[in-house]
Amino acid sequence: MLTFNPKELDSRVFYSYLTGTVAPRPIAFASTIDKSGNVNLSPFSFFNIMGINPPILVFAPNNRGRDGSKKDTILNLEEVPEVVINMVDYNMVQQMSLSSVEFPRDTNEFVKSGFTEEKSILIKPPRVKESKAHFECKILEIKQIGTMNLVICEIILAHFSELIIGKNGKIDQQKTDWVARMGGDWYARANESAIFEVEKPTSKIGIGYDAIPEKIRLSKILTGNHLGQLGNVETLPSQEEIMAFRDTQIMQEIIEQVLYGCAFLDNLLHSEASKLLNENKVKEAWLFLLQAHPSIL
Ligand SMILES: Cc1cc2nc3c(=O)[nH]c(=O)nc-3n(C[C@H](O)[C@H](O)[C@H](O)COP(=O)(O)O)c2cc1C
Repeated sequence: MLTFNPKELDSRVFYSYLTGTVAPRPIAFASTIDKSGNVNLSPFSFFNIMGINPPILVFAPNNRGRDGSKKDTILNLEEVPEVVINMVDYNMVQQMSLSSVEFPRDTNEFVKSGFTEEKSILIKPPRVKESKAHFECKILEIKQIGTMNLVICEIILAHFSELIIGKNGKIDQQKTDWVARMGGDWYARANESAIFEVEKPTSKIGIGYDAIPEKIRLSKILTGNHLGQLGNVETLPSQEEIMAFRDTQIMQEIIEQVLYGCAFLDNLLHSEASKLLNENKVKEAWLFLLQAHPSIL
């Protein structure tokens, strides 16, 4: 392990470690206006949800490294405390990046990066028409911490494109294609090959990792993810279920291989279980894993 005390490192160097590890980060594409109505649009990946009731978003423009001056977004928010946070998908990523260039204060980055302004309903800064989600926000507070300006916003109106709405009226994660910032020039894309589901242990209380028999926990075949799935079941299969499973053709074939000395039972059971766990078939995996050696039956 490399171990650093941030106080002993140049802050720009530590920044590169931080942004490379606290990643991928979603991107707030923030549109603001100054008191004369000049529009500004800039991306910020120091960004997240920080509350649900009321709904709160936070993002953090740092002061410019070059001269310590405040970025245009902050100057605008100090004059007009309203922001639209637009979400960024893969189709927008290159133009979004172009908008992050340090253009002069009165430059409208909608024009520079080729995005289309769409009027907001409750606030003055415009929305990015090409974005599939817009949050119209009022600023609650701008908290200065060192060189960072932490902007705390309350969402007062939200817009979601039908393109990302699924049959149940909720956001369909497979349709979003959001992009997120990583370290350096790297981005991540939430498209089909990158996203996956993990069953939430919400309404039930799983048995836990510590209740998994040791020989399964120490398996050379099962991974930490597999053990997490196994520990997430509420109960183990009953003795009757385990015995009935022994009569299945696949178990009979495994028993035969073991009796003829062709393979170790645990290896065969663990590899069957691992395949099933990869398909999220946890109960079936347990039915394999709990089979006793044929010699003790
Ligand atoms: C994807 C992305 C994320 C960024 N995140 C941040 C951030 O969180 N904080 C920050 O100070 N600058 C961030 N930047 C840089 C700003 O977008 C850039 O300094 C911009 O010129 C600020 O514009 P403004 O002066 O018009 O507010 C980011 C740039 C990109 C491309």
